[in-house]
Amino acid sequence: MRRNVRDARGDLYRKQQRFFAQVYESGHPTPWPSTEPTPAVSRLAHLLKRHKARSRVLDLGCGEGRHTLLFARAGLFTVGLDYLATPLKTVAQRAQEQQLTPRIELLLGDALMPPLKPGSFDALVDSGVFHHLRKADWPAYFNRVLGLVKPGGCFHLTVFSTKFKHYPGERRTRNWSVHRNHYDRFFAKCDFTEIFSRRCEILAIEEERAGLNGFFHVLMRTRPPHCRRADQGRPC
Ligand SMILES: C[S@@+](CC[C@H](N)C(=O)[O-])C[C@H]1O[C@@H](n2cnc3c(N)ncnc32)[C@H](O)[C@@H]1O
Repeated sequence: MRRNVRDARGDLYRKQQRFFAQVYESGHPTPWPSTEPTPAVSRLAHLLKRHKARSRVLDLGCGEGRHTLLFARAGLFTVGLDYLATPLKTVAQRAQEQQLTPRIELLLGDALMPPLKPGSFDALVDSGVFHHLRKADWPAYFNRVLGLVKPGGCFHLTVFSTKFKHYPGERRTRNWSVHRNHYDRFFAKCDFTEIFSRRCEILAIEEERAGLNGFFHVLMRTRPPHCRRADQGRPC
């Protein structure tokens, strides 16, 4: 990769991290829910509790920990990872209030360089990180993040759909934008097969739409390395 391209990406990611820091430090409510879990993630927690009660779960980009706390409440050991200390302090405080501290480990670190052992999790939840990554960083995500999940483990992904709007009447001519100093990528339903089917079996895709919000909640199962498909699925 040319140096100036890499520098520009690094610069965007630094601004993006500052954007998230300002959101948490502003004292205003976050643009995404702080405490209420996404229903699809609640269903996954319920499923794991019933069928795989000894699961270890990774909540990638955990923010203020609505899902970290959900899995811990379901009795599962959960690691919450975020690259900002402010939201992690909130999770730690909430965990203490709810007496969940023994089932939670909080890590300060970059999702693309996770300080964790490959294959050490039964389930991974990414609610709102992947859609802030440039396509050039997907290979790192596939290897370093998906590689943390055991073969046959669960992978829940929540991302913006192409129907998501930052403000009423927003028009976009491409499937990504840089908005208020952060990178957003927008997905169509058929993208998930193309992007993930080599590494994961797609079990369910749920579309959420309310007001300006548009999301996909995708449940996948990681494939063992010898079962990884050579094709990437059909392009849209
Ligand atoms: C949209 S928020 C979602 C928070 C949480 N997952 C939720 O659903 O409530 C995205 C979170 O991911 C974190 N994040 C974004 N990129 C990250 C990265 N490369 N490494 C670690 N954390 C990251 C941000 O700090 C922020 O807390």
